[in-house]
Amino acid sequence: MAEIVFPENFEWGAATASYQIEGAYNEDGKGESIWDRFTHQKGNIANNDTGDLACDHYHRYQEDIKLMQKIGLDTYRFSISWPRILPAGNGKINQKGIDFYKNLVEELLEAGIKPAATLYHWDLPQKLQDNGGWENRDTAKYFDQYAQIMYRELGDLIPRWITHNEPMVVSMVANLWGEHAPGNQELQKALQVAHNVLLSHGLAAQSFRESGIDGELGITLNLNHVYPNSDSKKDQIAADYCDAFNNRWFLDPVFKGKYPEKLMDLYQNKFDQPFEVKAGDLDIISREIDFLGINYYSRAVVKYDEDEFYNFKTIKPEAEYTEMNWEVYPKGLTDLLKRLDREYTKGPIFITENGAAYDDQIAEDGSVHDPKRVNYLKEHFKAAHQALEAGVNLAGYYVWSLMDNFEWAYGYNKRFGIIYIDYDNHQKRILKDSARLLKDVIENNGLKN
Ligand code: NOJ
Repeated sequence: MAEIVFPENFEWGAATASYQIEGAYNEDGKGESIWDRFTHQKGNIANNDTGDLACDHYHRYQEDIKLMQKIGLDTYRFSISWPRILPAGNGKINQKGIDFYKNLVEELLEAGIKPAATLYHWDLPQKLQDNGGWENRDTAKYFDQYAQIMYRELGDLIPRWITHNEPMVVSMVANLWGEHAPGNQELQKALQVAHNVLLSHGLAAQSFRESGIDGELGITLNLNHVYPNSDSKKDQIAADYCDAFNNRWFLDPVFKGKYPEKLMDLYQNKFDQPFEVKAGDLDIISREIDFLGINYYSRAVVKYDEDEFYNFKTIKPEAEYTEMNWEVYPKGLTDLLKRLDREYTKGPIFITENGAAYDDQIAEDGSVHDPKRVNYLKEHFKAAHQALEAGVNLAGYYVWSLMDNFEWAYGYNKRFGIIYIDYDNHQKRILKDSARLLKDVIENNGLKN
């Protein structure tokens, strides 16, 4: 049996996000976020679940760090809740919010776990939404101010920073499809949101450099490699549109300082002014970063359909699917990483999320066996390794998620954790088999083929 061994300094971790795990939604001076507002309106979320309590991580972070230690994590990716730090989005700072993250980070460091902080994982202060949210260019300015506060307060303790998590979801899922807070459904709004989010990334990257703190900063994009349903010319056109919409719309401005022409033309034909870009914006957005974070879950297979605005339709091939109805396709991760290396960056790249939802159950002996997730992770670890062998500068891998949590529009229904949360039994934590797999992989820095 061949062994798969990762590079010596490869980092293994797990990831979470503030709204999905913290709870304590109105404690210690925290302001309201758009997710508090959205979940409190009935009908937006499966089962009307909310993140009010979530995994109660706000009060249990010490216990959770012990579990991370047990698994042997090198690094832990979490996000900072903007309205905990600035209840109104700007202006007055809530010291208790800063203290929470300071304590968390200090305990992580003490446990030998490298903190990686995401500044924005979707919980925008509601007060800013009341003034237009990300559609309003001022929000980019306020994000930069918030980032600077965090650099100043925690810059000497946090070595890895991620400005944004999945701008594509922030713009399109939340403002075009309306499935996430704030629930808008308007293409021009979504395009303006995407631009302002990217702009805020560039501003915060610039401030990071100017702050002189020693650390690395990047952005996390959700990317899925796109495949045409057939070799036909038309299906290839469809795949190119889909790739422009999902991937290049975010990769190109960050790495090349421009938006993909293909979609720009389409938008300009439809609207007089699709969205506002000011002179110099794209230079700011394409400021150099230290790494790219990617979230990979599945691929897209598409075919041509001229009735669709973007000329493509997504196909569901006969295959294995997770509880999210996402195809299990590890090869897409290898292909994606190779493509990024070829066309965008020589790295470093971090997989900032990869994982799967399955319907886990507690067995009679109290353990949680999750063979499908174990298999999913193994196959994706191997796929990542293949990219390394092909020369991609992949530096680390965060599994999504450290624990079951609030899966946005799906509520608590979908479990992504390698730690089970027993919501009905005082939030009891149970390590799943997948957590043991990760422990073994970390111990051996690899796995048996
Ligand atoms: C990506 C998001 O960043 C995360 O919040 C979410 O839970 C996972 N995908 C799974 O959908």
